[in-house]
Amino acid sequence: MSSARQPPGVVPSTRSSWLAADLEYESALRGALCRHLLRLDAIDRSSRFGAAMSDTGIERYAEGIDVDPGRSCVVRSEDGEVVALAELRLLHGDLQSLAEIAFTVDAGWRGRGLARTLLSNLIALAATAGVTSLLAQVRVGNASMLSILRNAGMQFRRDGAEMIGTLTLDAPARRSS
Ligand SMILES: CC(C)(COP(=O)(O)OP(=O)(O)OC[C@H]1O[C@@H](n2cnc3c(N)ncnc32)[C@H](O)[C@@H]1OP(=O)(O)O)[C@@H](O)C(=O)NCCC(=O)NCCS
Repeated sequence: MSSARQPPGVVPSTRSSWLAADLEYESALRGALCRHLLRLDAIDRSSRFGAAMSDTGIERYAEGIDVDPGRSCVVRSEDGEVVALAELRLLHGDLQSLAEIAFTVDAGWRGRGLARTLLSNLIALAATAGVTSLLAQVRVGNASMLSILRNAGMQFRRDGAEMIGTLTLDAPARRSS
């Protein structure tokens, strides 16, 4: 990790229109997301996915990430690589009332507030999408993730080795969308 390296801005994952150039952009983005997730070690993969995850499993998962700019946020390094990813996964389809959130940050980029910043972005995206409640599943020992989410007001209950968190988005946030 280079301390001189500054975290770049958090940007939506893609452009909003879906022209031919965007398909090329999406393909490149998906490749960068896959490389980001493949760099996670076994412990991080288990923390993120709740179970061991093979390279093949990650490649398959990356194909299914919703890269719509309203559903995911990334942070890129100066060379364009994705170094952090936050996902908003709608769980109630058309009702869009509940969404699961998940975060990954490259090991060399941790402790700089990227996950905290991405959470703020996801909360804004969730409000825009009409989401009223956020859900997170976090390993009991994942102190940094629990700290970030608790600081945002998420309430947790324990379920075996997992902490299940819920955060109700307040009405003013929804009205501002
Ligand atoms: C969890 C993860 C996303 C955090 O990313 P990050 O960019 O380092 O997080 P941030 O820098 O935004 O915040 C770190 C916070 O954790 C706190 N923290 C770090 N270690 C801690 C510890 N042992 N106990 C309590 N808090 C701790 C920091 O003080 C900081 O809190 P602050 O925002 O109040 O200052 C990253 O470690 C990761 O990708 N882990 C692997 C995947 C994973 O576990 N994902 C979460 C499951 S969804």
